Amino acid sequence: MGAFTAAAASAGGNPLWYATRSFGLVALALLTASVLLGVLTSQRIATPKWPRFASQALHRNVSLLALAVVGVHVLTTLMDTYVRITWWAAVVPFTSAYRTGYVALGTIAFDLLLVVTATSLARTLTGHRWWRLVHWSAYAAWPLALGHYLGTGTDARTSWGLLFALACLGAVSVAVLIRLAIERREGPVRVWGGGR
Ligand code: HEM
Repeated sequence: MGAFTAAAASAGGNPLWYATRSFGLVALALLTASVLLGVLTSQRIATPKWPRFASQALHRNVSLLALAVVGVHVLTTLMDTYVRITWWAAVVPFTSAYRTGYVALGTIAFDLLLVVTATSLARTLTGHRWWRLVHWSAYAAWPLALGHYLGTGTDARTSWGLLFALACLGAVSVAVLIRLAIERREGPVRVWGGGR
């Protein structure tokens, strides 16, 4: 982090602005990994060497890490003076003066992640069925975050930035296709009754 800060400073840039962008990219990568692991877990994909509980534990830890990194991304955004964003713009969509619509996509994704994490931590109180319904909104957080990146990300305008977006899109598309194929063969996963 020290070398990164020094590099940013010597490049004449604002280190906090570079931090916002770097943590944003790491957050999107972690969110992508979390969606992939979520699909593996929900479809009970496992091998003797890779049992289901390993995917479950990894999914939970990667998701918590994603939320923590998004938190740092938001914090550096608020502390940064390169663009002025108020703290409520981090939780109330469409209140940012800077790129209102595209920042709002990130805000809604952040809100969804907070709700999904809170209901996961309080799973014993909400009950499994409600938790599962709310948990599906985690799937919505990912395209919103990708839209936020493509719309407002400085790095999304570079060729490696586009490649990164395509890699995330490809990974989640493959996971969703696998999920649909399994559900077609074995029926949908049970939520309110019926199915697997
Ligand atoms: C799930 C939630 C979020 C994810 C995954 C995410 C991810 C990202 C990514 C990948 C970038 C692009 C970095 C780059 O330039 O290469 C970015 C930029 C940015 N994000 Fe977020 N973000 C999220 C939520 C938020 C929230 C809630 C705010 C509001 C406080 C926010 C404010 C910004 C700003 C100001 C930028 C820089 C835009 C620019 O380069 O002009 N993000 N974010």
